[in-house]
Amino acid sequence: MSLIRIPKVLSSEITPRDTYLRRRELLALAAAGGLAASGIAPVAAAPIPAKKTEFGADETPTPKDDVIAYNNFYEFGTGKGDPAANSGAFKPTPWSITVDGLAAKPKTFDIADLMARMLMEERIYRMRCVEAWSMVIPWVGFPLAALLREVEPLGSAKYVAFETVVRPEEMPGQKGFFQALAWPYVEGLRLDEAMHPLTILATGLYGETLPNQNGAPIRLVVPWKYGFKGIKSIVRISLTETQPPTSWNIANAGEYGFYANVNPTVDHPRWSQATENRVGGGGFFGANRRDTLMFNGYADEVASLYAGMDLKANY
Ligand code: MTE
Repeated sequence: MSLIRIPKVLSSEITPRDTYLRRRELLALAAAGGLAASGIAPVAAAPIPAKKTEFGADETPTPKDDVIAYNNFYEFGTGKGDPAANSGAFKPTPWSITVDGLAAKPKTFDIADLMARMLMEERIYRMRCVEAWSMVIPWVGFPLAALLREVEPLGSAKYVAFETVVRPEEMPGQKGFFQALAWPYVEGLRLDEAMHPLTILATGLYGETLPNQNGAPIRLVVPWKYGFKGIKSIVRISLTETQPPTSWNIANAGEYGFYANVNPTVDHPRWSQATENRVGGGGFFGANRRDTLMFNGYADEVASLYAGMDLKANY
């Protein structure tokens, strides 16, 4: 049963225009250097007005301290603490995203304009990393479909390709002798996955603008897929006819496929994917082990996208 729940909006949750304007002032302040590089990434530059939805209302969010301290963002280093420690000099404003490729109206969007114009929603999503840790994160963002509709995808468009910024001067993991991946980090979705209402572009978490380590100023969130699909700090989104390359598949095709749907019955070649550790809430890592759910618990919403597909072959 269960279709996507239609979010209820209370009139008290609709944000007045002056709150948006106030937020734009704060963003401008942040851009002007109000958040000085301190060696520690600036956290939560400004509140984002967002309507609360019913997504994940029954979940207990992972403490914010864990969400912003335990990250994967190889542009800032491969350790889980590296993104928080090394992203202080990264400048997420001003920022623009180009949406192009097989579209009738390709366009470059300014992030401040998008954030002011799009209807922002807070959605609490279960997230699951391929390395078997999981979190529940209150994201703030808007459906990717809303942005794609604005450029009018052509009938020939079958996939969506995503690209992260390349800025070695601000991203220490992109320079030097050892580089963990080929840059830019790239990801992709099938067009129907990209248009699915669960797929969002997040610009914040815990009601505030995204910290640099979580993918400021805008990143992808696809809650039924492993975390590596959630490409951060996006500068380009392109509609394509053929399946786009993806960073982890380029790095190791035997271990990371294009689909990356959370699937407890398909193991990673080097470890089981049947259980996961829920990060946070005190206790030692491992105390929160639980069974992983098919499609990360979103099977009712997304299983039909893969009807008839062999999910062992299409991992
Ligand atoms: N995006 C970029 N550009 N670079 C990365 O290294 N890591 C991915 C994904 N997006 C990554 C990225 C991986 S492996 C995971 S698990 C998630 O980001 C982690 O997101 P979080 O740190 O916000 O929890």
